[in-house]
Amino acid sequence: MLKVAVVTGSNKGIGFSIVKGLLKRFQGVVFLTSRDDVRGKAAVAKLNELGFYPDYHQLDVTDTDSVATFASYVKAKYGGIDILINNAAVCNCSELYLSYEETKYIIDVNYYSFFIIQEHLYPLIRNNGRILNISSDCGHLSNVRNEYWIKRLSSKDLTVKDINQFVEWHLEAVKNGTFNKSDFADDGTIAAYRVAKVGVSALTIIQQRELDARNISVNSMHPGLVRTDMTKGVGFYDADQAAETPLYLVLEAPASIKGAYIWHDRQVLDWYDPKADWYFKSITFSQ
Ligand SMILES: NC(=O)c1ccc[n+]([C@@H]2O[C@H](COP(=O)([O-])OP(=O)(O)OC[C@H]3O[C@@H](n4cnc5c(N)ncnc54)[C@H](OP(=O)(O)O)[C@@H]3O)[C@@H](O)[C@H]2O)c1
Repeated sequence: MLKVAVVTGSNKGIGFSIVKGLLKRFQGVVFLTSRDDVRGKAAVAKLNELGFYPDYHQLDVTDTDSVATFASYVKAKYGGIDILINNAAVCNCSELYLSYEETKYIIDVNYYSFFIIQEHLYPLIRNNGRILNISSDCGHLSNVRNEYWIKRLSSKDLTVKDINQFVEWHLEAVKNGTFNKSDFADDGTIAAYRVAKVGVSALTIIQQRELDARNISVNSMHPGLVRTDMTKGVGFYDADQAAETPLYLVLEAPASIKGAYIWHDRQVLDWYDPKADWYFKSITFSQ
């Protein structure tokens, strides 16, 4: 049986480098996917020039039809998925405070899309498979400074409803003009992205609980500050360097790492520590 790996949002940036690394190191089919066919096919052509041949499919993680079509295609052609890397995301990172419309867009792409992927692609994940959700330093619980939400998100009985209500609380605050910068670290900069990524890392814990019985691992990770279009070229690492830990996690890491939050240097961190110094600081953009 052919093994299958899928990377969302992989026409450029870290996702593209993960696909390239999988093509070198994974014994199986690797899907490069893109929401835009022109950009996706250009990325495939770039890999072909280097002698690598990914499978390609259109995939917009916010579009139910697109995700369902992709799921049917993979199911018919290969029967299942062994590795899924949820990498697609957006960030208007140069704007520190966003309008409601921009906030909603970031939360839809970076958080709510996970439910569409979960509904259509998770049933295809084979037993013993690995799912990696690309989060951020913005996804560590220490980004949240509101005591009520720290307590609720730290609950060992955390539910999807808790996380959704946290996300909706932020959306409502931005809509009503009651957003309080002190509810988040770093004076509430890029709060939409922090909320979405905290949501992703919290959801990872719940997804792990649900998939445990099939020995599927679900982890979330921070890839480092990386020089991609998302950061307008600012960062400590290039995309190929940043792809190394995601590749390690899906190919080599002990299968016992489950439901964890992992730093770009492979450290498994305590996600629940609200006083930790792992949160994103906007000053790193200007250093
Ligand atoms: N770069 C960093 O310093 C950094 C730090 C922490 C976390 N991260 C995370 O790392 C991951 C990769 O980021 P990156 O820096 O490589 O960003 P990037 O270069 O901007 O690439 C993002 C990718 O996601 C795709 N995408 C956006 N919306 C999508 C949608 N609705 N459906 C499918 N694909 C979509 C983009 O496609 P288009 O080309 O069509 O826009 C692009 O291929 C993200 O999850 C990001 O949040 C990055």
